[in-house]
Amino acid sequence: MGKKLKIGIIGCGGIAGAHAGTYNRIIQEDGDIEIVALADIIPGRAEKFKETHGFTNARCYNSHTELLENEELDGVSICTYNRQHARCTIDALNKGVNVVLEKPMCVTLEEGIEMMKAEKASGKILSVGFQPRFDSQMILMKEIVRSGELGKVYYIQTGGGRRRGIPGSTFIEDATGGVGALGDIGCYALDMVLDAIGYPKPLTVTGYTSDWFGKNPAQYSEADRFSVDDFGAGFIRLEGGVILDFRIAWAMNVDTPGDTIILGTEGGLRIPSTDCWNGGFGKMTLYKTVNGKSTETVIEPRPIENDKGCWYGKLRSFIDAVQTGGKSPIPTSQIIINQAIIDGIVKSSKLGKEIEIEIPEI
Ligand SMILES: NC(=O)c1ccc[n+]([C@@H]2O[C@H](COP(=O)([O-])OP(=O)(O)OC[C@H]3O[C@@H](n4cnc5c(N)ncnc54)[C@H](O)[C@@H]3O)[C@@H](O)[C@H]2O)c1
Repeated sequence: MGKKLKIGIIGCGGIAGAHAGTYNRIIQEDGDIEIVALADIIPGRAEKFKETHGFTNARCYNSHTELLENEELDGVSICTYNRQHARCTIDALNKGVNVVLEKPMCVTLEEGIEMMKAEKASGKILSVGFQPRFDSQMILMKEIVRSGELGKVYYIQTGGGRRRGIPGSTFIEDATGGVGALGDIGCYALDMVLDAIGYPKPLTVTGYTSDWFGKNPAQYSEADRFSVDDFGAGFIRLEGGVILDFRIAWAMNVDTPGDTIILGTEGGLRIPSTDCWNGGFGKMTLYKTVNGKSTETVIEPRPIENDKGCWYGKLRSFIDAVQTGGKSPIPTSQIIINQAIIDGIVKSSKLGKEIEIEIPEI
């Protein structure tokens, strides 16, 4: 075996635990990485995290800048809240460190563009960690869409959400989360369908966001802290004549805003995906007309041999790319489109009208 990759983790809160657990599995099963550095701005949090996950040789720091100044890393997991995604990613790339970043990519489109510039200038990779991409049902769905079975796709309805399920913690404040349900779970629904159809660029967005539940003390216990969206919706025109009709909720007065449906000229696909961010979903249904008759085919989940799960896929694919000098497994060239739509929904909602989306070539 060659040299072990030196990996760091920036942000040692909730989701960093999933990174740590997966890295420990990679250390045990593959043995080609080591966790050498941890950082969190909350004093003592990195040290506690080190102990919890048994990273005995890791050095602990009180900020991402301190970590980046003192370490020579091959890669870093960035697990901070959304408002720190851009800053930490740009600083890591400027130091020549490859980055696997938690979703959403960032908060605004402008931040995303700066991140892509830093990525290009560094020659390193930035992979945005959408782990459901490695789920076997998700892979099967994409294969069906990409097979051409649906003909020309012209309309997609997607999204999802919860009747009551506003998370709390750093998710609900503008200063840390920056965006609410849109960035927390909306980005997954967008990634699911946009990846399936090859991430066409958005042309225009008509967006709406609201906070009827989060801001209401009768509905939510931390209403005084709540300063992001708890519901978002958008009507998006994509290049190639595709309409994307999207809605996402942390709270709403219905159990689900509906399945994902992908309509094409030759077929339609129903994906029961109201919780698609958990990776996987139930049985899909493919609607076709065969010999003049309407058919409905229920598609059974397809087990994948040696499936090690979404989280292993997310971090292993990043490490493989770093080791081989390969391309980013979940590249910014795609995820900037996801971010542009989220940003477009926020901006259009504030303006109260449709806006045009322009993503510069980086
Ligand atoms: N992939 C998933 O399934 C999944 C699930 C939950 C959350 N997330 C994403 O993970 C991110 C973090 O969520 P969380 O629940 O862990 O939040 P959290 O608030 O529990 O943890 C974030 C940590 O980052 C630290 N931090 C902030 N800025 C820092 C900096 N500059 N340097 C070092 N540390 C810094 C904070 O002190 C905090 O401990 C969010 O962007 C969220 O969207 C992903």
